[in-house]
Amino acid sequence: MCGIVGYVGSRDSIEVLLEGLARLEYRGYDSAGVAVVADGSIDMRKRGGKLSVLRESLDADVLPESGTGVGHTRWATHGGPTDENAHPHLGDDGKLALIHNGIIENFGELRAELESAGEAFESETDTEAAALMLGRIYRETGDLTLAMRRLVARLEGQFTLLATHADHPQLVVGADHNSPLLIGFGEGENFLGSDVNAFVKYTKKAEALGNNQIVTITPDSVNVTDFDGNVVTDNKTFEISWDAAASEKGGWSSFMAKEISEGPEAVENTVRSRIKDGLVRLDESEMFSADVLSQIDRIVIVACGTASYSAMVGKYAIETWTKLPVEVELAHEFRYREPAVTQNTLVISISQSGETMDTKMAVQYAKQLGARTLAICNTQGSTIPRESDAVLYLHAGPEVAVASTKAYLAQVVGQFLFGLHLAEVLGTMSDGDIREITDALLALPEQLRQTLETGKEVRELAHWMSDTRSVLFLGRHVGYPVALEGALKLKEISYIHAEGFAGGELKHGPIALIEPGQVVFVVVPSSRTQPTMHSKIVSNIQEIKARGARIIAVAEEGDAAVMPYADVVLRYGTTNPMLAGVLAVVPLHLFALELATAKGLDVDQPRNLAKSVTVE
Ligand code: M6R
Repeated sequence: MCGIVGYVGSRDSIEVLLEGLARLEYRGYDSAGVAVVADGSIDMRKRGGKLSVLRESLDADVLPESGTGVGHTRWATHGGPTDENAHPHLGDDGKLALIHNGIIENFGELRAELESAGEAFESETDTEAAALMLGRIYRETGDLTLAMRRLVARLEGQFTLLATHADHPQLVVGADHNSPLLIGFGEGENFLGSDVNAFVKYTKKAEALGNNQIVTITPDSVNVTDFDGNVVTDNKTFEISWDAAASEKGGWSSFMAKEISEGPEAVENTVRSRIKDGLVRLDESEMFSADVLSQIDRIVIVACGTASYSAMVGKYAIETWTKLPVEVELAHEFRYREPAVTQNTLVISISQSGETMDTKMAVQYAKQLGARTLAICNTQGSTIPRESDAVLYLHAGPEVAVASTKAYLAQVVGQFLFGLHLAEVLGTMSDGDIREITDALLALPEQLRQTLETGKEVRELAHWMSDTRSVLFLGRHVGYPVALEGALKLKEISYIHAEGFAGGELKHGPIALIEPGQVVFVVVPSSRTQPTMHSKIVSNIQEIKARGARIIAVAEEGDAAVMPYADVVLRYGTTNPMLAGVLAVVPLHLFALELATAKGLDVDQPRNLAKSVTVE
């Protein structure tokens, strides 16, 4: 959950590190620090608080110029977000600096061993045990790469580590175990980072380290070995497909606002190149063959948070189109039970970051159980696609705000593409039926643009509601996961109580929550294509209205039946019923953004959260 960056080259490393940290801050923003090697010593600065606090300190009191350094932005696990607990941590009497992402599970044992050997700790972190241990091993070997290899043999848990030493003015060593680390290749300079954001401003050529590997970078060389010291040459280098500007805020007030506005493009870029002559054509080199697909008899989709709600929307479509049973399971629940999975089960993982630990573990578990695995993922070079048998990349572009918005849209349409492809292979849909859906898919970007125009109305609503303490969301069919997503977004960035329910569940309990003035968002299915469900939800609306609720209906254009009961109606465009979950979510994303803004909160960096949850 932390962001890590390392640099060797001829630029001023502080500038490179701060630039990288600014782009990685979404991974953790409790505290930040940098260390550089200059004039035979390590110079370090670290501060609790956001990166801006560190910046101010560095502006007030500059560190010496240096071409070698490491930087860290933290999401606290062991020890609160204080100056002392911020990374880097020092070893070898201050001559070595180490930064860490992950958790060292045996740190208590290591700490006791180090303390009894006379080492003094300055922080409460697990990382400092690794730094002090690395320092001791280094003293025996004088070789930082070898010392790192010996250190990782002593560590339990999951980690990415980067270290630099005063004896080696142009060298950074990294190691990864169940935690991401990427190399950025430059001319006369090289970079390391938790993801490509760390160095995309300087180079587009990247490579992800495989699990249990060690990398040593100098300005002119990059050497990778496994934990036993065997040279690794088969990691795949790739070209970063987006520009540094894509992960900048531009003129927007927040990344979230920018990313909501990029929803139409995210859908367009994910869908357009995959539809040929009205049928779905996926990249053969990354997808299963038709033979393999024909053997699938069941699908399980694993994901967390917003990605899991996108999976619930996907389930309705894939099951309808392919006639295969589809289940959605939270990755962390799937991982710790004994699911009935066979080699004919396809386990699809959905992840924006491709690094969510719970989802990654679920994929590994599915493979162990013999299932086939497909990753639907937005981040190139990330771990989950690398560990899966097949991949469908989304093209939403980088998502920086902690609250996922455009990636949700891309995740849903990514599943539609796969569902239609599978339906064609299995022969469960005619070409004509598929073309009807692909036409609707291609129309989505423009419809999304129109839905975004509800922005002004939603802003007024949010201002009117800025003191609201609880909001409920109700939906049926694909509107149900949309309701869950609306509630999650609100909790995440507005810190108010919000719950999503299936409309049919109302009378089984949640209706007891309704009291005069309670605001309820109701996601209304289409009266044209889902008349039965539509009339059921109109009954739900009447029931809660009768008990004094204030109704905000999210309804299809032209739906007049909700008008007499709703206090406000927000509209989405007419589409196929399976696709409505793409359009109907937009007013809810906008509402969460506007409410948090009206409350004066930091929408991009909500408290206690980080963008990629890389620990269990
Ligand atoms: O990177 P992933 O898609 O795997 O992340 C999964 C969840 O952690 C993520 O969707 C989270 O729920 C978002 N912050 C919600 O806005």
